[in-house]
Amino acid sequence: MRDKLYQAALKGRENSYSPYSNFAVGAAVLCGDKIYTGCNVENGSYGLTICAERCAIWKAVSEGERKFDAICVVADTSAPVSPCGACRQVMSEFKIPRIILSNLKGDFKEFTLEEILPYEFKL
Ligand code: THU
Repeated sequence: MRDKLYQAALKGRENSYSPYSNFAVGAAVLCGDKIYTGCNVENGSYGLTICAERCAIWKAVSEGERKFDAICVVADTSAPVSPCGACRQVMSEFKIPRIILSNLKGDFKEFTLEEILPYEFKL
């Protein structure tokens, strides 16, 4: 399943809209037998940019998904790409148990939520 999710994240990355950073990111989330992909979508007003991880999660949630099994993120980095803090908090909101980080070379690092965001914010 990890490879299927990785391939989906790579596919998502192909749609990255990143003319400002030229840093293309792809993501894919697994919800049961469904996969939702995402990419970073930048904006000339930089703060409006959305990361690939949140793009994929929003797509799944907006289709009615609430239970996530895993997320995979990919970018062209020397080591598996590290998600930003905001995306970690969103992963925590939806309790994504398996977080797979990767790069174009096919290196992987896997984390649990607790490992990637210890002592998360909770209401
Ligand atoms: N980016 C992501 O898509 N995910 C992350 O976890 C970190 C950063 C994007 C946002 C922006 O389009 C570009 O990478 C450079 O920050």
